[in-house]
Amino acid sequence: MSENLITNVFKNKKSSVPIWFLRQAGRHIPEYFQIRKNEEDFVNFCLNENLIIKSTTLPLKYYDLDAAIIFSDILMIPWAMDRNVKFTKNFGPSLKPMIPNETKILQNISLSTKLEPLKNSITYLRNKLPKSLGLIGFAGAPWTLACYMIEGKGSKDFINTRKALWSSHKWFMELIETLIIYIADKLEMQAKAGADILMIFDSWSHMIPNNFFEDCAIRPTANIVDILRSRKIFVPVIGFPFKAGASIVKYSFESKVDCIALDWSVDLGWAIKNLNKEVALQGNLDPASLIPSNSDFLRENVLTILDVTKDRRFIFNVGHGLTPECKIENIKEVISIVRNYHRKV
Ligand code: CP3
Repeated sequence: MSENLITNVFKNKKSSVPIWFLRQAGRHIPEYFQIRKNEEDFVNFCLNENLIIKSTTLPLKYYDLDAAIIFSDILMIPWAMDRNVKFTKNFGPSLKPMIPNETKILQNISLSTKLEPLKNSITYLRNKLPKSLGLIGFAGAPWTLACYMIEGKGSKDFINTRKALWSSHKWFMELIETLIIYIADKLEMQAKAGADILMIFDSWSHMIPNNFFEDCAIRPTANIVDILRSRKIFVPVIGFPFKAGASIVKYSFESKVDCIALDWSVDLGWAIKNLNKEVALQGNLDPASLIPSNSDFLRENVLTILDVTKDRRFIFNVGHGLTPECKIENIKEVISIVRNYHRKV
């Protein structure tokens, strides 16, 4: 494991608070569009080594960060499973929807072959970037990938996915089990290529009916971590059970992740009191606080987050991805506040 402020958090080393941002490489930086113009199709963009490298390193030109997150998308696994993934401007992702009980779940695909450009970009970047900078690999969680694969698009309530969970349970769980393997394969590939930290995005975990939270979020995540450890991959894993409310308490004790990313709705004081103390914390800043110019609250809120988490292993971040409206100046200000905040962990 290379030495940087983030990996130090996991070795219990006393150090300053590390900082990076979810979706730091995206559309809030106008230069992103120059890079994006080179490839109209977003899937092909995510399969182009040169463009992956350019967008992964883009935020490093603007910000003093502790990590780069490799540029890709969680929907590259469904793409590799031949679900006809497309990204349409102003619509978002679309996929060929899976028909519960009828659609055959593709087994034995080789992700390291299909996602070779991702692997090569990580190898290249890990060699090129300074060791003081963490390189984060990621994947979507099984539930969140199943949401997109069954619904065939984004949704506000993922009703078809929830219906399938109740009515075609055996098929649904087979899909989850298959995704566990592919996600573990993808994360393993990224760690072997040089990623020092891995993150699992469960962006739609708040859609899981509570009685199924354990089966659809906690156990699959624990299985993924177990598979990684059994394959001798020991890099820290960050889990992101987005907006899962009080269920994150159980998640913190049983999912086997090393760190929990907190969305902006979580009461930090409550999280510190109730979540597993062995697990580090990340996040919580509302990305919308980075939109207005001269907000009276931004500085105050950043300092509050730092104060409240002062006795805890903590990685500064937003509680969900940066949006195109977020301002570069605000992000720079947050970084400067965090850098100037001295504390002993
Ligand atoms: O964080 C980073 O900067 C690295 C890159 C990254 C992207 N997607 C690039 C992207 C990461 C980590 C993701 C994860 C992702 N993708 C998630 C989980 C995180 C979250 O936001 O909850 C999800 C749910 C997706 C699925 C996805 N990809 C959607 C719904 C969309 C369309 C909506 C949107 O935000 O545009 C995408 C497209 C996408 N992924 C873009 C980027 C930069 C925009 C596409 C473009 O530039 O044309």
